[in-house]
Amino acid sequence: MPYNFDRTPNRRTPGVLNKWTYYPEDVLPMWVADMDFPAPKPILDELRSAVHQGVLGYELASNTLLETVVARMDRLYRWKVKPESVVPVTGIVSGFNVAARAFGSPLTPAPSPRGRGERRTGYLVQPPVYNEFHEVKNNVSIPQIEAPFIEHVRGSLLRYEIDWDLFKKRVRHASMFLLCSPHNPLGIVFARRDLLRMAEICIENKVLIISDEIHSELLLGDTKFTPLAKLSPEIAKNTITLIAPSKTFNVPGLFCGFAIIPDKELRDRYIQVVQHLRLHVASLGLRAARVAFSGQCDGWLQELRSYLTDNRDFLVEYVTKNMPGVRITVPKATYLAWLDFTQLNLEGSPYEFFLKKAKVALSDGKIFGGNGEGCVRLNFGTSRKVLKQGLDRMNKALHSLVT
Ligand SMILES: Cc1ncc(COP(=O)(O)O)c(C=O)c1O
Repeated sequence: MPYNFDRTPNRRTPGVLNKWTYYPEDVLPMWVADMDFPAPKPILDELRSAVHQGVLGYELASNTLLETVVARMDRLYRWKVKPESVVPVTGIVSGFNVAARAFGSPLTPAPSPRGRGERRTGYLVQPPVYNEFHEVKNNVSIPQIEAPFIEHVRGSLLRYEIDWDLFKKRVRHASMFLLCSPHNPLGIVFARRDLLRMAEICIENKVLIISDEIHSELLLGDTKFTPLAKLSPEIAKNTITLIAPSKTFNVPGLFCGFAIIPDKELRDRYIQVVQHLRLHVASLGLRAARVAFSGQCDGWLQELRSYLTDNRDFLVEYVTKNMPGVRITVPKATYLAWLDFTQLNLEGSPYEFFLKKAKVALSDGKIFGGNGEGCVRLNFGTSRKVLKQGLDRMNKALHSLVT
């Protein structure tokens, strides 16, 4: 193993506000979704060479970069994308907000997409889901429509399934479906047949799909991923896919992602909003993305996945063995687990409880909507040692309740 994920650098840099310095020094951060591992060397070398050259001027996405993105989609999934379909964005959150502004917002005097008669503006989400999905309604003043999952519990393990009747009923009120695939925070990697069924229902109801696939390369165990738009040309025409190297290669602070929009009409409208809002991607983000997607970092990624898979297994076993009454997902992707404490009588929310009693900062379940209250999201993208330390602290706090 040439990469040592057991060693993580100290991120408590004075004057810097990040996940390690946000809370007081005695708190262990297991919240916001970045990992504690340094980015792979080829990316760091590219950034070092840009800094060494000294001029950090404006840059645009080169053809080489767009072709690199296209080649990666082909290599990973045999998904044929044209370079002109790839639109650089300043991160995935801006990517889906642009889509909402372009296609769902009353702020934008554009015809409804797909030539619909009536003008629906709502967007559908599947909660509990990534907190920024819930902000879209405020950012562009459109209603949010929810189709929560069905929860299954077996012993300490949680599993989620699409409630198809609800999905079909709710989608009719939307103009857009904001899909999180793989799903944050539940770690679901949707089966091909489920993706197909969601896409078909959306097409039947003239609902545009925005598929946030930022976590698509963080696959655990032998999980395989299918980009939704790859399923058929008709689905591709109705989909905006958002991808980025940020989560996979741990460069989220560089804010660079890509919207893949095969349909020209949708793409032109999308680019118009990007240009109106002057969303320029930073040059270091573009440079990092080119190297990240080139394949030079794939050896690192393979080992990262194996380390994260072991972390997931360690976490699930730890919770199952030591924390009776606590329920946990077994994520198939991401470095995020979902823990349900509703069976315990905790003082306040589990987020507050563990911050106060265990000095562990988690993400509060309620920010993900649905019935996220009573739950937390735990980030296991760290060394096994830090993960164990966090779990030991949480376990001790829980045991102090019964002794
Ligand atoms: C599903 C999902 N989309 C988007 C983002 C953030 O994207 P960006 O930082 O590129 O805006 C995250 C970060 O956690 C995420 O989980």
